[in-house]
Amino acid sequence: MFLPILCVFSLILSSHAAVQDFCVGDLAAPEGPAGYSCKKPANVTVDDFVFSGLGTAGNTSNLIKAAVTPAFASQFPGLNGLGLSIARLDLAVGGVVPMHTHPGGSEVLLVTQGSICAGFISSANTVYYKTLKKGDIMIFPQGLLHFQLNGGGIPSIAFVSFSSPQPGLQILDYALFGNDLPTELVVGTTFLDKAQVKKLKAVLGGTN
Ligand SMILES: *[C@@H]1O[C@H](CO)[C@@H](O)[C@H](O)[C@H]1NC(C)=O
Ligand SMILES: *[C@@H]1O[C@H](CO)[C@@H](O)[C@H](O)[C@H]1NC(C)=O
Repeated sequence: MFLPILCVFSLILSSHAAVQDFCVGDLAAPEGPAGYSCKKPANVTVDDFVFSGLGTAGNTSNLIKAAVTPAFASQFPGLNGLGLSIARLDLAVGGVVPMHTHPGGSEVLLVTQGSICAGFISSANTVYYKTLKKGDIMIFPQGLLHFQLNGGGIPSIAFVSFSSPQPGLQILDYALFGNDLPTELVVGTTFLDKAQVKKLKAVLGGTN
């Protein structure tokens, strides 16, 4: 009579033992492809699972008039290993997150203030874009080029969540014009005029 109950108990205990509840990142250790190694459970506190930075507007006094405040694993180690993260996006009037990709994860964006024209380009080069208003949500599939632009009259705010604790970010304009890739190669690979490439390199901090 006790045996079935014991069996159930031992099943519950063994299944618990097999699953690790969390792996709060040890930011002092190096980060590998699978994320950070785990902090000792005895050293984990509630603050590892709470991030308080997203209530404050980012500084949009920059070329793109935009600020992304990330709560990725490097800022928010409790996310390590859990396959998700979040960030705040502030766009001043006329602000833009230029064409970019997140190699590591898909994105879902929720507009909480103002309006944002957002879109992505599929690998078949089909464009999907729309002007989103407060309360609208849009999805940007992993790895695809996409953008967000505030064409409205007031600053806009959005919160973006990713299917990765470290989604990564590569902005196309900076990849093309913000480094030392020689002008002739940029001209040769983009079909742009040399003068235009030189101008964009000057604006975006590129050389050569
Ligand atoms: C973990 O906590 C112990 C004491 O509770 C401390 O001595 C040790 O330095 C801590 N380790 C880390 C990595 O914070
Ligand atoms: C915002 O950034 C600009 C340019 O880097 C800087 O001059 C300004 O002091 C910053 N403002 C705040 C409130 O940090």
